[in-house]
Amino acid sequence: MIALSALCLALGCFSGTVYGRPPNIQETLAPTPNYWFSFGASSSQTGFNSNGTLPNEANPIGNPTFPGNTFAGGINWVGYLTSYYNNSLLFTYNYAIGGATINRTLVNPGSSKALTEEIDEFMAGAGKKPSVTPWKSENSLFSFYIGINDLQATYNQGGDRGAFSDLLLDSYFAQAKRLYDVGARYFLFFNIPPTDRTPLMLKQSETARATERAVIIEHNKRLSARATDFQNSTSGVHIAFYDIWTHYEVMLNSPQTYGFKDATSYGDALDIYWANDFHAGVHANDYFAQVVVAAGGDDKWAPQGHGSDWCSDGQCYEKTQVLWGQCGGYYYEGTDKCPSDAYCRYFSDWYSQCNPIEKSGKTFW
Ligand SMILES: *[C@@H]1O[C@H](CO)[C@@H](O)[C@H](O)[C@H]1NC(C)=O
Ligand SMILES: *[C@@H]1O[C@H](CO)[C@@H](O)[C@H](O)[C@H]1NC(C)=O
Ligand SMILES: *[C@@H]1O[C@H](CO)[C@@H](O)[C@H](O)[C@H]1NC(C)=O
Ligand SMILES: *[C@@H]1O[C@H](CO)[C@@H](O)[C@H](O)[C@H]1NC(C)=O
Repeated sequence: MIALSALCLALGCFSGTVYGRPPNIQETLAPTPNYWFSFGASSSQTGFNSNGTLPNEANPIGNPTFPGNTFAGGINWVGYLTSYYNNSLLFTYNYAIGGATINRTLVNPGSSKALTEEIDEFMAGAGKKPSVTPWKSENSLFSFYIGINDLQATYNQGGDRGAFSDLLLDSYFAQAKRLYDVGARYFLFFNIPPTDRTPLMLKQSETARATERAVIIEHNKRLSARATDFQNSTSGVHIAFYDIWTHYEVMLNSPQTYGFKDATSYGDALDIYWANDFHAGVHANDYFAQVVVAAGGDDKWAPQGHGSDWCSDGQCYEKTQVLWGQCGGYYYEGTDKCPSDAYCRYFSDWYSQCNPIEKSGKTFW
């Protein structure tokens, strides 16, 4: 038995009675952020400069002022996901920049960046887990939405397109591996949307559009296979895969169902799909973010959508997915139960979505 006086020597003791509360209890705990590191091109850009003000409570994208400089004519999917569909304080470091390609040697992005350079920028700063950005494997998401420019610039070059996609994807997944090596475990991959349906491409010949479409479809096939390979060849990785190609197709094939005037106009109005001749606008981006939330693969990012069961006070409930949320697909582990006015609609092996039970003429905002 240790004598009290010895303990006092070791720990220090007050003489006499101790009154009051123990010291150093924080009155209010600041919310702990989760982190999101986004890589990509114009469809994701918010204009973040990683040397500027970092994401903080007043501005979760750091700089510039929310919603940043986007190509959507306002808030893009990154902004919606960061500030509207988040279930936690989410600090978003968005390295995406307009014009970005995957690898400068393969497709030159000129004064923009290659994905490899976006990752270099991350590695030189936040990647080192400095005290200002104390991200951890379990509280950080890494997203890739890249390749649109690579295919747009090269679709008409002929040659073995599958082999070229393989080269692009070698570089792409080498970058994902670099992130894995410094601790990234939660990944979100987007495939390439059907840019053959952009107003820009509608001005081109039908042959040009058909060529581009085939190139994108082949690339996407290889991209989803690579995501599976990546999952298989690394341990502890959680992958969410957003089949945005299908989502574009669904909305553009039935624009009025989603509140859009048509599939071809561009401009500022809320009921117009395209913000300009190449980029989807604010309302389409709102839909994208809702799907990403559901595809997030983890409750930190998929709160309102992710359909895992939950239990409270000894009773368990099957969580219902939200409208537009994911309800099936290859990596999806949540519920297939949709709200009462919706049904689980199959789009591809990667993705099923809760869609409204359609009433003719109804729009959804
Ligand atoms: C940040 O600053 C470093 C050092 O001055 C510079 O090399 C780098 O290009 C800057 N990055 C950006 C995104 O401005
Ligand atoms: C979502 O993000 C916004 C902007 O940072 C923040 O004010 C809000 O508290 C976050 N929501 C939750 C549930 O943490
Ligand atoms: C970029 O592509 C070239 C040509 O395929 C390749 O040699 C190089 O390793 C790639 N760079 C990176 C960083 O992946
Ligand atoms: C990767 O994993 C999937 C699903 O577990 C499996 O079907 C597939 O055969 C695996 N592929 C390889 C190359 O191991």
